[in-house]
Amino acid sequence: MKFFLDTANIDEIKQWLPTGLIDGVTTNPSLIAKSGRQIKDVIAEICRLIPEGDVSAEVTATAYDDMMREANILKAIAENVVIKVPLTIDGLRTCKTLSDEGTGVNVTLCFTANQALLAAKAGARYISPFVGRLDDISHNGLQLIQDILTVYDNYPLFDTLVLGASIRHPHHVAECARMGVDVVTLPAKLMTQLYQHPLTDAGIDIFMKDWAATQQKIA
Ligand code: E4P
Repeated sequence: MKFFLDTANIDEIKQWLPTGLIDGVTTNPSLIAKSGRQIKDVIAEICRLIPEGDVSAEVTATAYDDMMREANILKAIAENVVIKVPLTIDGLRTCKTLSDEGTGVNVTLCFTANQALLAAKAGARYISPFVGRLDDISHNGLQLIQDILTVYDNYPLFDTLVLGASIRHPHHVAECARMGVDVVTLPAKLMTQLYQHPLTDAGIDIFMKDWAATQQKIA
């Protein structure tokens, strides 16, 4: 399973890249707003930091012609830019045009298996089902992921990857992995939660104390 960082914060990306655990980055208009920077500048910097990884940059227009105009500006920033479009009829049309041209597209704001089916038919590289936002309204976000995987499995010619988004808890990540999700995109805080465990910390404390008592050094 690939891990993308869901952030437009350069410091967070720089902190996590040396681990080798990060395969790409996703952004959205809210994350760009939070960065306080111009979208073209921040996307360019992220693409330079992770040149081998897909970096999702989202259009903000709602009509096809305007989406295409914005997409062409964003994709000119770097080769690894993936254009993110919302799951609307104009977004799907934009997805189809861009995908036919060979540009990677991430179709976002997916909340049903039918929407995911349409995105695959439109040639999306990624479909982004929003797990946490469904849970927020007492629906089952992980069930949506399972439904999409089942639908896509029925049609081997679809090559759209399932990108679990709006992931809020370590449990979401483990369940996505159990189901065989292709990619999850995570805030940096959640990356930290994935490795931290009180028994790991307690175990290290015990080992260090016992080791110190031996007065040995590995040299
Ligand atoms: C990623 O592509 C999404 O924009 C993001 O995961 C949304 O997460 P949120 O629901 O926590 O804002």
